Amino acid sequence: RGRSVVSPSGDHLLRRSFTSAAPLPERKVAILGAAGGIGQPLSLLMKLNPLVSKLALYDIAGTPGVAADVSHINTRAEVAGYMTEDQIGEALEGSDVVIIPAGVPRKPGMTRDDLFNINAGIVKNLCTFIAKYCPNALVNMISNPVNSTVPIASEVFKKAGTYDEKKLFGVTTLDVVRARTFYAGKAKVPVADVNVPVVGGHAGITILPLFSQATPASNVVLSADEITALTKRTQDGGTEVVEAKAGKGSATLSMAYAGALFADACLKGLNGVPDVVECTFVQSSVTELPFFASKVRLGKNGVEEVLRLGSLSDFEKQGLESLKPELKSSIEKGIKFAKEN
Ligand code: NAI
Repeated sequence: RGRSVVSPSGDHLLRRSFTSAAPLPERKVAILGAAGGIGQPLSLLMKLNPLVSKLALYDIAGTPGVAADVSHINTRAEVAGYMTEDQIGEALEGSDVVIIPAGVPRKPGMTRDDLFNINAGIVKNLCTFIAKYCPNALVNMISNPVNSTVPIASEVFKKAGTYDEKKLFGVTTLDVVRARTFYAGKAKVPVADVNVPVVGGHAGITILPLFSQATPASNVVLSADEITALTKRTQDGGTEVVEAKAGKGSATLSMAYAGALFADACLKGLNGVPDVVECTFVQSSVTELPFFASKVRLGKNGVEEVLRLGSLSDFEKQGLESLKPELKSSIEKGIKFAKEN
């Protein structure tokens, strides 16, 4: 009983394996800033992703080495490296997803906003090329300050006539990854099972983890002080790494993991996998702010649905009100920069 009958030739098995698994569609992913601290491990992780058929690695320096290295891994994705702006068109053409970790990271004592002057120009420039060469791609913005670089990208795309609010994402997945890890430790639950929505933005107090919605429920009673400490540790997670690296940059390995997780969700959505939900910073009407991070359902065209915040504890309601002025001004700063430059 229960044994399948296989013909001596094995035809039956062969037929089954051909009919049951639909072939994976071709998907091209481009990484801009691929030779950097985040870019290199992110390139590795995307090379390991079976959903990727082509991986284009672009940077202003160092890409031939990274591309040659990663290309020797015997997985599906075909790797090519591109350097200098005359090759960026080729890197971008036909891309389904473009991930941007280009730009300078923080040093101890710096806020993400201190990076604005350098990174705003880099992001604006790269988005001009995206509008030209792959206007339909999903853009995953990692470059900081995300609260401003996403609005900058939206303005560049609007100016080029290619803006689609369903296709522009600020990557806030690292905040979710941190909230999951820190919560699991305190709540004494298995970390692999944990989910915690993180909403708002991606800098300091604009990062608002919703521990009242965390699953599974804590195995120990978490006091108000413990929730406050967990919230603060999630908000300051980036700074914890910046200080530990003592001048050698910010989170790269955990960020590459988080970036790969988010890009994988985008690819699954494009491929029609149902119920792919991730927190991300997108154009939004969940609050009065024009951009906001919250849970988003991803689909064949990018954003399928921006989910509402759900019920918040009094502590989270307070956090939400206090983050709004800072997030608003970071958004406005990005829009102003893009309009004036
Ligand atoms: P990094 O300095 O190690 O690497 C940046 C790379 O970008 C370099 O290889 C550089 O050559 C390249 N680059 C600079 N200008 C470029 C251009 N015009 N076109 C293409 N490539 C260019 O920095 P790291 O540590 O990789 O960080 C990158 C960015 O990611 C920073 O802005 C950092 O603040 C941000 N970040 C974001 C996080 C998030 O959660 N969203 C977390 C951690 C960092």
